[in-house]
Amino acid sequence: MKGIILAGGSGTRLYPATLGCSKQLLSVYDKPMIYYPLSILLLLNIKEILIISTKKDFSLFQHLFGTGEDLGVRFTYLIQEKPRGIADAFLIGEEFIGNDKVCLILGDNLFYGDSLKKTLRQAVSFDDGAVVFGYPVEDPRPFGVIEFDENQNVISIEEKPKNPKSNFIVPGLYFYDNDVVKISKTLECSKRGELEISSVNEAYLKNKKLKVKLFEEDVVWQDTGTHKELLNASIFVRKMQQEGRFVGCLEEIAYENGFITKEKLLELAKKMEKTEYGQHILNIAK
Ligand code: DAU
Repeated sequence: MKGIILAGGSGTRLYPATLGCSKQLLSVYDKPMIYYPLSILLLLNIKEILIISTKKDFSLFQHLFGTGEDLGVRFTYLIQEKPRGIADAFLIGEEFIGNDKVCLILGDNLFYGDSLKKTLRQAVSFDDGAVVFGYPVEDPRPFGVIEFDENQNVISIEEKPKNPKSNFIVPGLYFYDNDVVKISKTLECSKRGELEISSVNEAYLKNKKLKVKLFEEDVVWQDTGTHKELLNASIFVRKMQQEGRFVGCLEEIAYENGFITKEKLLELAKKMEKTEYGQHILNIAK
């Protein structure tokens, strides 16, 4: 399975913080936002990863992660010329995806929980179709919202509805078989001018090929696309790390997966030894 992180967009909801810098490079407590979605791909043992960003920010991501060698993975970088919508990732990434299945994660989504690894690894073992998740929120209106019938079967997924039919939204983590490329090519832009990921999910649903899974209760999901959400996410990460539970520690996951050696881990930790993050990696290496 290949992995894609969508890290473009205009970040207008985070102005002026994003006037000079990509939103996915802003700090969520002690690390760039993109570390969190990347940590999920690593947890899934995905080693071939495409980062899609804007022309302006492309080189910053390259500077941050390089080839991926330090984490024992391989990064490909591609540009999205205009924010044409989330499903555009499959058109931009067509060649990268090749004949594989693909996991797409949004560059501003944070997931955390003890049961997460188990749930995700189960989700990833699907044969065909698509797997997405349902997550309950107080105000579902800014998201893709799931409608269920009385037997909890999914009957629709609506993008940013004025009158949501449930409190369950689809967070920005999606697994698709290779048909996703074909399906994305048939999409038309929505009223707001985007190729909507909810339209992709609707297409799978229509073909009876969409599975919606729920996380266990300990799993926390946060979108970090507004100032309030960004601050809440930082507070959450700080609280977890004060309790000794590190969130989004890429080097730790890469080492546990066997992607990098202990020597490499030590080398990476040394560069950051003045920080809590570096000390945490150092402790693991020791
Ligand atoms: O966060 C989950 C929600 O993400 C889903 O429930 C919605 O169905 C989905 O449409 C999306 O809604 P958002 O309004 O939060 O999407 P946003 O425009 O903030 O974009 C999400 C990420 O994708 C963000 O990191 C920017 C990036 N992006 C977005 C678009 C539209 C791109 O790189 N290119 C794009 O064209």
